[in-house]
Amino acid sequence: MSLMRTKPVEQSIRETDEPEYQLKKRLSALDLTVFGVGVVIGAGIFTVTGMAAQKYAGPSIIISFVVGAICCGLAALCYAEFASTVPVSGSAYTFSYASLGELVAWVIGWDLLLELLLGASVVAQGWSQYADLFLGKLGFNWPDNLASGSHFDLLAFLLVAAVTAVVSLGIKESMRVNLVLVGIKVFIVLFVIIAGLGYVKAANYSPFIPPAKSTEASTGLTAPLIQVLFGIQPVTFGILGIVTGASIVFFAYIGFDVVATTAEEAKNPQRDLPIGIIASLVICTLLYMGVAAVITGMVPYDQIDPKAALASAFESVGKGGYATLIAAGAVAGLTTVIMTLLIGATRVVFAMSRDWLLPPGIGRTHPKTGTPLRITITLGLVIALVASLTPIGKLEEMVNIGTLAAFTLVSIAVIVLRRNRPDLKRAFRVPFVPVLPIISALVCLYLMLNLSVETWLRFVVWMALGFVIYFAYSYRNSRLSGRAKEGEVPSMTST
Ligand code: ALA
Repeated sequence: MSLMRTKPVEQSIRETDEPEYQLKKRLSALDLTVFGVGVVIGAGIFTVTGMAAQKYAGPSIIISFVVGAICCGLAALCYAEFASTVPVSGSAYTFSYASLGELVAWVIGWDLLLELLLGASVVAQGWSQYADLFLGKLGFNWPDNLASGSHFDLLAFLLVAAVTAVVSLGIKESMRVNLVLVGIKVFIVLFVIIAGLGYVKAANYSPFIPPAKSTEASTGLTAPLIQVLFGIQPVTFGILGIVTGASIVFFAYIGFDVVATTAEEAKNPQRDLPIGIIASLVICTLLYMGVAAVITGMVPYDQIDPKAALASAFESVGKGGYATLIAAGAVAGLTTVIMTLLIGATRVVFAMSRDWLLPPGIGRTHPKTGTPLRITITLGLVIALVASLTPIGKLEEMVNIGTLAAFTLVSIAVIVLRRNRPDLKRAFRVPFVPVLPIISALVCLYLMLNLSVETWLRFVVWMALGFVIYFAYSYRNSRLSGRAKEGEVPSMTST
């Protein structure tokens, strides 16, 4: 039963006052919204939209974005309720510790690390490609043997090192850099939408939903799990194409949940976290629909270039020069994604270390910067090495499965905490509980089933590794294990 031990919300909140583990409360609602937009808009919109429109949904990819937003919106409501009730670092990990018990919390924390660390590494590789392109447009040719796809991607390594240095300096400093880069990114996305609208041809929107056609089933490990389990015949376009499109553009939405990891650094978390989470999702949805409308309106969907949809759409109307601007937007945009994912990852490990599920010494915050310095540097190094030395560019699906698993559990956790602790003050409440959280969990599970068998297998391996660590270390060392007296902080030199 001790696997199910839960950590009372009051205890979590009390522990945020321990001097060894103090983060600085410096973030406003605007900071949190900018933080959310910074992490959400990234590789997804610049690369995935065109491919998904050309292959699966045509102009109705715009509806796929709405479907994706509804799925994320449901989860966002659940995150907002939790963040306003348990304003403690660690996001879904902390929420599940309060409601579903330690083992589930560990599983979620481990799973979040997959989302955040792998996400940052995948995006760093995408960044390196855009940076290479951008430098080329400026007349500087980066050596091929140190670029993306070579044995050592120096660009990706240098970027992650620089981002780690900024994150180590402090949360407010990171937010300042974030604000500038998000400003550039949003400006360029808006520019693309406004400039592109002038070239939209109504004829390209017809048919808006191209007729469904059956397609060759992928086989073996690359087949979606749902196809293998239920023998579903794959189709592209039509209504099902919209759903498939949604499960692909889901990647573009990933990240708004990271806002919840900074709960302890918000000045007024109960009010500002729900604002930050929901506002960033709404802003990104509108921008995404705009970009999707421009791409599919400028070029007939079957002629979209899946690799560089935006740049080639502008080339087709004689505005090839915009490609430089788009590359600049991607370079700025992807930088903030990596930065925010790194911040999220450090805050999750920080929370797990404060609960002694990971060595407590590593979580100590630096008195000057108010950041968990050791964790930041270690995770930055891991991301830099993975991004520069391994061919992980194709593992976006792993990021999707990690995120969807977290969304599912947070949705369930809302219902459980409502039942177990109806007395808690909830500044934000999900409407229609339990119906909305149940729909949220089911939609996430459905999208997970659409991911490939190999992604599931990799996910199972990652989780198995997590279980080994939990039973070998965390279960016995947990603060809740009773090995230490309540409130006693173990020696900070213990690692
Ligand atoms: N949503 C983030 C991106 O699209 C992960 O890059």
